[in-house]
Parts: sequence; structure tokens; C-alpha cells
Amino acid sequence: MSVPGMISSVAWKTLGRAFCIITGASKGLGRTLAHQVACLLRPGSILVLVARSRLLVQDLKEALEASTEGRGLTLLSLAVDLGTKEGVKETVRVAQEQATENIDHMLVFNNASSLGDMSWFAGSFTDLDEVNSYMSFNVSSPLALTTGVLQAFPSRSGLRRTVVNISSVCATNTKLFWVLYCTGKAAREMAFRVLAEEEPDVWVLNYSPGAMVTDLQKEARAFTADVELCQSCCSMNAEGQLLSCQESGAKLLQMLLDGDVPSGSHLDFFDD
Ligand SMILES: NC(=O)c1ccc[n+]([C@@H]2O[C@H](COP(=O)([O-])OP(=O)(O)OC[C@H]3O[C@@H](n4cnc5c(N)ncnc54)[C@H](OP(=O)(O)O)[C@@H]3O)[C@@H](O)[C@H]2O)c1
Repeated sequence: MSVPGMISSVAWKTLGRAFCIITGASKGLGRTLAHQVACLLRPGSILVLVARSRLLVQDLKEALEASTEGRGLTLLSLAVDLGTKEGVKETVRVAQEQATENIDHMLVFNNASSLGDMSWFAGSFTDLDEVNSYMSFNVSSPLALTTGVLQAFPSRSGLRRTVVNISSVCATNTKLFWVLYCTGKAAREMAFRVLAEEEPDVWVLNYSPGAMVTDLQKEARAFTADVELCQSCCSMNAEGQLLSCQESGAKLLQMLLDGDVPSGSHLDFFDD
């Protein structure tokens, strides 16, 4: 068994009897992770699928119920807006309601994110409400949600606690016109790095999934004012160079099962 925050020598075979939350589960990487995670859960696990689109998370829940029938999993769909206080509160309430000593792994995937307006230089952002609203969903919300769930599952012997932050190369690299996204990803990653240092029994990973075929990627191509970047993303898409969510999700889950990187690390799909 690996020790959270430490290098382990023994890989996990499953994610255990887990309480797992995936935000942004209605589509893209989050939806794929839900399918992949479900395959790795032991009987008695609870998987909570969170996004705004009620129909899409309900549809995913039903698909997973069918594909995991007889495996003793509980699937819950939660249609909330994580950009609001109420949405975060409701997600934490579900965690509190489901908290039980039978769980041996608490796992949160902070996957939901938005691009923000990418048509202007940083010098144009004079509207404090617009910036605050972006940071509220992309930085404050994953932090508050994670700490709320950690409090619902306090440290105890036999309980692993894992937190994944879906990050981006934009957490460390600048991109013209992407001031909101870059700032949000950098701040979010720093929040999770501090959490890793402060809570040594929590294993925290920041994972940059690579450019994938998703709606967010399509939106980036359509709306960025950076013509060169737009052209490069368009040609990657046309030449089939974008990753599939399956490829990227599988790499993340393999890293979670291997359990051999220090807490707080920034991992990238393209890491060896
Ligand atoms: N795609 C890429 O090339 C790429 C590259 C690097 C990093 N990433 C990162 O990977 C993660 C997943 O991205 P993706 O490409 O899969 O994005 P996506 O296809 O746009 O999916 C985003 C998910 O977030 C949910 N969401 C958006 N706003 C929400 C809100 N206010 N409250 C609750 N849920 C909300 C969406 O569902 P609803 O609309 O139903 O709420 C959806 O399920 C993100 O953190 C992104 O930054 C992506």
C-alpha cells in the first residue's frame, strides 16, 4: 500500500471502495474519466457525477448503471452550477450525506473549467465582476469543494485521500489573449500545491491532460483572438494530432494506480 505524499513501491490494482466525485462529468474528459474510474471501483463505492446539464449527467449515470450492473456501485448525478455558492454547498452536502466508515478511498477530480473571454488583451479587462466571476468558478470553487469534501471524510486509519486538479500547460506558460485561463490555471494549481504541503496525508496531483478533442478545445479554436494559435490548433485537429479523452484519461488513471509521484506534483500527459 502506498503512503499518500510519499513515493510508493507497490502499485494499486483498483481505486478501492471509494467515494469519488468528478466535476464536469457531463462531457469531454470528465465524462470519459467517469467511465474509466467506474471500471476501477470496488463494490460499495459511490461515484458522484457533477455538471450543470441535468440531462447529460442523468444519461451518464444511467449508462454507467447499465455497464456496471451487479458490481455494487452507487451512482449519483448532481446537476449544479459550480460557479455558484449553492452549487458548491450542494456538492459538499452530498459528500457529507454519503460519508461512511466503509469507504477506504476518498477521491476528488476537479475537472470542470471554463476558458473565459479570449478575444482581448489583459489590458482590456476592466470589469471586476467578469474577472471575479471567472476566478470564482475556476479557482475558489474547486478549492472550497475539495476542502468541504476533505472535511466530510476526515483523516482516519485505513482511509486514503486523493485530490486531482485537472490543470494545463497554461498554469505555467503564458498565452496571448488567455489572461483569464492562464491566471485561473496558475492560481488553481498553486492552491492545490499549498494544500499538498499543508495536508501531508492527502495525495494531491495536478495533471495537464494535453490538447484533446473536446468542446472546450473547439471553443478555444473558435474564439481565441490569437490567429497563430488558432491556426496551429486547427491544423492539429485536421491532422488528427489532438489526443482523445480516452488516451489522456487512461494515462492519469495509470498514474493514480502507480502512486509513485510526490504529492503536489505537476504531471503532464507527455511525461514519461
Ligand atoms: N480540451 C483540451 O484540449 C484541454 C487542454 C488542457 C486542459 N484541459 C482541461 O481539462 C478539463 C476538462 O476540459 P474539457 O476539454 O473536457 O472541457 P469540456 O468538454 O468543455 O467540459 C467541461 C465540463 O465542465 C462542466 N462545467 C462547465 N461549467 C460548469 C459549471 N459552472 N458548473 C459545473 N460544471 C461546469 C461542463 O458541463 P456543463 O456544461 O453541463 O456544466 C463539462 O462537463 C478542464 O479543466 C480543462 O481546462 C483541457
